[in-house]
Amino acid sequence: MSKASAPGKIILFGEHAVVYGQPALAVPVTQVRADVQIDNNSDAGIRINAPGIEFSENFKSLASPHPLAATIKNTLSVLEVDSLSGVTIHIRSNIPIASGLGSGAAVSIALIHALAKHLKKKLTLEQVNTLAYETEKIYHGTPSGIDNTVVTYAAPVYFIKSQPIEILKVNKPFTIVIGDTGYPASTLESVSDVRVQHRKNPERYGTLFSMIGGITNTARRLIENGSSESLGPLMDENHKLLQHMTVSSVELDDLVDTARKAGALGAKMSGGGRGGNMIALVQPEKAEQVAQALKEAGATKTIVTRVE
Ligand code: PMV
Repeated sequence: MSKASAPGKIILFGEHAVVYGQPALAVPVTQVRADVQIDNNSDAGIRINAPGIEFSENFKSLASPHPLAATIKNTLSVLEVDSLSGVTIHIRSNIPIASGLGSGAAVSIALIHALAKHLKKKLTLEQVNTLAYETEKIYHGTPSGIDNTVVTYAAPVYFIKSQPIEILKVNKPFTIVIGDTGYPASTLESVSDVRVQHRKNPERYGTLFSMIGGITNTARRLIENGSSESLGPLMDENHKLLQHMTVSSVELDDLVDTARKAGALGAKMSGGGRGGNMIALVQPEKAEQVAQALKEAGATKTIVTRVE
């Protein structure tokens, strides 16, 4: 039996703009995880079970391109293993799907690690990251690579597309409340819509992207110099720019307003948007109060996480 696990993630600053070369900040969320276990069985093939989403299939019957099939195939190829058989792969995850918390990346990365363990082989984190990025392309079309990077390294990251990863030094830990609108939304769709808008109006969208990049760089400095309590207004500003890009939603805006009124220092949507999760910066002693207010306003789930 081989087991591996990977955390969820949130984007603190810079989603969407990161697809266009701007920097973004993302951190792991260890309260939610994807777990993969590989057992030997007496059958010939590879059985994949994900009871949480009522998925039970044989590897061979998966239509191509399938993210799980591609992950297995690409991992075996990097590990220089011709074929795998007689195994059952169990996937369990409490990361909501299509909600901006990195569910796809976490499943891929836990699966890659579990396969390497099962085959008694080693992969570098760089190899894991590259493999997971290939699968992200199936999920998201043209991903920046931020999700697979933050989940692979399981550490706060300052990320610029196609550049070497930079681990973010968090000088003073801070607390984030995450609120789920309960409405899943496709990142592929919101990213494609932004692309269409950008093509129609390159100047306006170019300005929005570079303003978000500026906010992200300021946020990085605050986090690294121990002034994380000052991130609130930057989150508010980033949210406003994402609204201008039309990737927020009524439900996200409601939860963002609710968090601010309940005492958060700032709040914004997080991830692809149009649904999924929002995040709020809070003083630790206000976390429960803000989480409660979010639930009363309709959040289907809240998570309190410490960024350190
Ligand atoms: O997977 P999500 O919903 O957290 O979105 C990732 C962030 C985007 O910037 C919207 C897309 C990307 O590939 O960076």
